[in-house]
Amino acid sequence: MEVVIVDDRSQGGQMVSSAICSRFKLEPLSVLGLATGSSPEPVYDDLAARYAKGEVSFRRGQAFLLDEYVGLPSGHPESYRAVIERQVVDRLDFEPTSVRGPDGAATDLTAACATYEAAIAEAGGVSIQLLGIGSDGHIGFNEPGSSLASRTRIKTLTADTRRANSRFFHGDPGAVPHHVITQGIGTILRARHLILLAWGTDKAEALASAIEGPVTASIPASALQLHPHVTVVADHEATSRLTRLDYYLETWRAKPEWQTI
Ligand code: GLP
Repeated sequence: MEVVIVDDRSQGGQMVSSAICSRFKLEPLSVLGLATGSSPEPVYDDLAARYAKGEVSFRRGQAFLLDEYVGLPSGHPESYRAVIERQVVDRLDFEPTSVRGPDGAATDLTAACATYEAAIAEAGGVSIQLLGIGSDGHIGFNEPGSSLASRTRIKTLTADTRRANSRFFHGDPGAVPHHVITQGIGTILRARHLILLAWGTDKAEALASAIEGPVTASIPASALQLHPHVTVVADHEATSRLTRLDYYLETWRAKPEWQTI
């Protein structure tokens, strides 16, 4: 696992966006794993800027969302599909049908989960998966206690997550759905490169537990320790609780020119 400490989220966004663009230039059929929430926003902003300058195209690529609320009416502005439409689909040249998310409005939710899992496999798996981290250590919507081997399935959100996400629902936790469909931790671990983004002191404790604590279902992001290619890109505030901080900084300073993230 590589921990890259950046001065601010915009610098982090540019670094990650540059890695994504290199991947798509090299392999135009690549598959991007999309996260929602505020953490990946600087990456999407920088991708949009590079696309607008003609630096990169995603026309032949595919993308998969990590998760989705269950039961929001189709087109609800806070459904993760709608968020990704605004942040990614409207600003890059992915074919809209090549950007897929779990169907939280399906009548048969269990079948929708299986279909989604199969679609990811059929696309050849995810090349680069973007991830944020919840302040309780969740990734996607895999709340603490989620099986580290889990696949795409229905989960119930914790009261804390519903409270945190109520900022997108006029501050009303009661308006945040109880249920979601999320890629499982086992699904996420199948992606070839995982990039976890974390900004601000609110994430410091969860990030320290995930990176330096034991691997445990109580901190779902700690499962990343089991993956062979993980890059954590975080600012000084989010990394303030790490004990090996000096080592991560030294590793980055000494990184060979030719080596990318
Ligand atoms: C939600 C999302 C996660 C995200 C988390 C943190 O629960 N399902 O994918 O990582 O929020 O959100 P933010 O990036 O806004 O801090």
